[in-house]
Amino acid sequence: MTHNPHFRVAVAGAAVLALTLSSCGGRDSGGGSDSSADKGSDKAASSGFAKDATIGVSLPQKTSENWVLAENLFKADLKSAGFKPNVQFANAGVSEQQNQISSMITNGAKVIVVGAVDGAQLGTQLKQAKDAGATVIAYDRLLLNTPNVDYYVAYDNFKVGELQGKALLEGMEKKGKKNSYNIELVAGSPDDANAKVFWDGAMSVLQPKIKDGTLKVGSGQKSFQQAVTQGWKPENVQKRFDAIIPGTYGSKSLDGVLSPNDTLARAVMTSAKSAKKPNPVVTGQDSEKESVKSIVAGGQYSTINKDTRNLVKQTIAMVKDLQAGKKPKVNDTESYNNKVKVVPANLLTPVIVTKDNAKEAYANDPTLSKIVAAGS
Ligand code: BGC
Repeated sequence: MTHNPHFRVAVAGAAVLALTLSSCGGRDSGGGSDSSADKGSDKAASSGFAKDATIGVSLPQKTSENWVLAENLFKADLKSAGFKPNVQFANAGVSEQQNQISSMITNGAKVIVVGAVDGAQLGTQLKQAKDAGATVIAYDRLLLNTPNVDYYVAYDNFKVGELQGKALLEGMEKKGKKNSYNIELVAGSPDDANAKVFWDGAMSVLQPKIKDGTLKVGSGQKSFQQAVTQGWKPENVQKRFDAIIPGTYGSKSLDGVLSPNDTLARAVMTSAKSAKKPNPVVTGQDSEKESVKSIVAGGQYSTINKDTRNLVKQTIAMVKDLQAGKKPKVNDTESYNNKVKVVPANLLTPVIVTKDNAKEAYANDPTLSKIVAAGS
């Protein structure tokens, strides 16, 4: 995927150029909502289905802890809601995911929840799903280039990026005010539709500072294409930084690194450590256990709390509404254009976490609050 699938992103980019984007970014009004979105939803909502129906959940590779948490929650919570969960991981990639979705359809799944490996490669299977009368929910990652997706449930990805951009600036300033800071940029995997949205959110904050010289990208690798990390694999970003750090920062300091998630943040820090460089300010996402430990210990600077329990809960609430023949709740009908339609979305609010607010941020999370208590 080489171009921008998101209406909101295109609009945000234009707004940045015009220097009119407010600091919080706002929600882009795309206008022109697509009536096919509503038609699909009405059809899905009109009839309902059996209380013990099979619900398919197709998850991508285990590229971060959140997917594993989601697997366990979907299995347990769909079951306790009375449904028959069929939850699968596509560890081998796109074709495995295509086969899994096809077999969920054959097994009569009434709703198929998809966290895509590559959101643009499932068109045939999603059409099969709709032809069989199932409702399709895109989970966390948008499904692209298809009319056959009814809903999207996710944390607001653009906002995630914005929070990361702001945290990077704030973290570097806290370490000591300078006229300019040396930074490097990391993006996620280009086949994941979220990666570009995280990037655009972050760049809405960082780009003006690069332009005015406050931020200098030492390697010169400033574009999304140059910054991507295929497959969200830590070894890929580590390899990139193992070249960049000695090559560019022999005598200069590397002040900060925009990292889109925790797994990649830790790989960047490993690379800096092996080059015997002081730890830069590094952002992250997902509140992975190792990263929360690191944040409390003063290592990684920030992460994002996107509580998987809420995301799964909201998805199951949609499934329950569909079962009862009701129209599921959405709170955004203009931001997520998948190039065929604007997908009605239920967007949750991500929270930035640093050492300063970790205690409050994880107060309701039994695992993470223990880690914070142990480290403080
Ligand atoms: C998710 C992130 C996750 C990344 C890698 C993205 O689609 O939104 O939470 O870090 O995938 O697994």
